[in-house]
Amino acid sequence: MLQTVTLSDDEKELIILDQRRLPGEVRYLRLRQKEEMKDAISTLAVRGAPAIGVFAGYAMYILGERLREKEPSFKECLKKYRELGKEMANVRPTAVNLSRAVNRMVRAMEEERSLYDEARTIHQKDIDTNKKIGEYGLSLLKPGMGILTHCNAGALATTAYGTATSPLYLGHEKGYGFHVYCDETRPLLQGARLTSFELSQAGMDVTVLCDDMSASLMSEGRIDAIFIGCDRVAANGDAANKIGSLSLSIAARYYGVPFYVCAPTSTIDMDTISGKDIVIEQRDGEEIRSMWYEKPMVPEGVGIYNPAFDVVPSENITAMITENGIYTNTGNGINLKNGVIR
Ligand code: MRU
Repeated sequence: MLQTVTLSDDEKELIILDQRRLPGEVRYLRLRQKEEMKDAISTLAVRGAPAIGVFAGYAMYILGERLREKEPSFKECLKKYRELGKEMANVRPTAVNLSRAVNRMVRAMEEERSLYDEARTIHQKDIDTNKKIGEYGLSLLKPGMGILTHCNAGALATTAYGTATSPLYLGHEKGYGFHVYCDETRPLLQGARLTSFELSQAGMDVTVLCDDMSASLMSEGRIDAIFIGCDRVAANGDAANKIGSLSLSIAARYYGVPFYVCAPTSTIDMDTISGKDIVIEQRDGEEIRSMWYEKPMVPEGVGIYNPAFDVVPSENITAMITENGIYTNTGNGINLKNGVIR
């Protein structure tokens, strides 16, 4: 399994797999400077809510230690560190893991605790969480099932087995023989470029389809379950995830296909009341117009709508799988205040 985010041996650099180059090229980048770290997040060299959280922890560690060396006054150092945290957290607004990891690091600095330990704790928690989500998720599946997934909530979006893919990896190890369908995931093709890449490398049976083909596949009865990740879950159980998740959930409900959201508790944000309160990142229209083509595919002057995420209403979610257990929808959506059901 490819390592997405690590710290160099001398602990002064962040080493990341450059996901912009996949699947054609496996190349690692070594980052030291704030601007290159911010650029790695905004251009999706590192991506996926949990991986961004782990990345932010290490970035804040490296930059925080440098600040501590340069700035003798604790008060001044803390002030600058808080400003740095704000700058970092604003790069991508939707995934709560980014601001949460940054806030944890700022708190560690405030309390004069080890920044290294805090960053390591964030990382280790992600590894443990992936495994648990896999075990709970697998308890919902049977051998030979057809499973659809959207975007990449895989090993490449985390630092271990992924969230939505974790049950697939664990099932594969046990010989479950799943047929996995990956939505291409326009416009940045995380399903085609990343999910199909990592799952086929692991030896799974993988088929890629365009996003507008998934309802057709469901109508043919070829999908037994859908597993997606998420970037932020609101207190009412609404879940923001990659654009296209909403329409997928609507089609799933229509065809009676179970729709599972894999949600590490690091993505649950009880301070956000509902999906309407989640800030959705808007991205450059060139990702649709020209990024993948030799010539622009949208005429000059035509507007482009390019939100990176949408919100799946709680009532469309069959169950939410966390590292602590599964919240089941008993009719009125996911009730996170009820405690896990199984
Ligand atoms: O824009 P991306 O590639 O960072 O979007 C990723 C997703 O939407 C994932 O599904 C989500 O972050 C969960 S990753 C375990």
